[in-house]
Amino acid sequence: MRYRVWRRAAGLLAPLLLLALGGCAGAGRADPVTVRIGVALYQQDDTFISTVAQHLEQMAKEEEQARGIKLNLNMADGRGSQAAQNEQVDRFLAQGYDVICVNIVDRTAAAVIIDKAQAAGVPVIFFNREPVEEDLMRWEGAYYVGLDGAQSGLLQGGIVLDAWRQDPEALDRSGDGVLQYVMLEGEPGHQDALLRTENSLKVLAQAGVPTEKLASDTANWQRGQATTKMTQWLEQFDGGIEAVFCNNDDMALGAIDACFAAGLSEEELPFIVGVDATPPALEAVEAGTLKGTVQNDAAGQARAMLELACALAGGTAPGDAVELTDGKYVWLPYTTVTKENLEAFLPPAS
Ligand code: BGC
Repeated sequence: MRYRVWRRAAGLLAPLLLLALGGCAGAGRADPVTVRIGVALYQQDDTFISTVAQHLEQMAKEEEQARGIKLNLNMADGRGSQAAQNEQVDRFLAQGYDVICVNIVDRTAAAVIIDKAQAAGVPVIFFNREPVEEDLMRWEGAYYVGLDGAQSGLLQGGIVLDAWRQDPEALDRSGDGVLQYVMLEGEPGHQDALLRTENSLKVLAQAGVPTEKLASDTANWQRGQATTKMTQWLEQFDGGIEAVFCNNDDMALGAIDACFAAGLSEEELPFIVGVDATPPALEAVEAGTLKGTVQNDAAGQARAMLELACALAGGTAPGDAVELTDGKYVWLPYTTVTKENLEAFLPPAS
């Protein structure tokens, strides 16, 4: 309800704010409008999340320049604790932030945050860690920016299928006509871990490629944990692993670390694939140790969040700033990255 009141007030102010914001607009004012955005990260040292955070900071500066406003971004690190993150959200709300962006620690715990935000009349944009739908439906001022994990699983499987079709012997080292693989899974309960695991083998199955799962386990998105797991599997399966499906790039890099530590040469590496297209993973694709990844559009998520936040702060229709599904969701597409199209994903040479 309070959000409605806020929105009405914003509606009255809209002509003024529009002048200043133009979606966040207003070059040339002596006294620029300030938009304050609180960003709560589940774990700042997560490689992918830190990439999103860097894009947010960079783009906020560009928007300030372009639109002659002040965009005040304040990032808080939840360090994997929902209790700590709730306090950070309380602080943003108490300090009168215009919009909060939440990368929620526990995606089943969104109701608490949504209710607090609604009570304060401050819109909340969740990202990357998707709240359950019924929570997001609690309030019209709650949004989600993300990508469909199922698509990334299918695209990852597609990379392996293409390689198999091009040169089956290069993957099928044992020559038994079956692709023996292991799977490194992300954090249990994370929608992307569930959906990538469920979908990455589907494309191969549909194409009739025989596969055999040797082992799978969670490494919680983490490079170090993936190295430990892969080290065990390399010993256990003694040269028998032909492919490694990883729910994210950090774990793929961990698997590569384990292979090199076990004394494998580049030519002896199994066919390893990830998801994210983080900067270190793109380097590994370039080096040929990572056979492919699927871009989890960090820049796109940052851009969509800023545009949505500016629209919400400026009292303009969010649907005019970003493409909304069901009035709530901004869905961005995943893209396959292999050595063939890598160039397009590398940062411009400075
Ligand atoms: C990314 C992971 C990341 C996780 C954090 C996933 O979408 O692929 O790399 O650790 O989000 O929530």
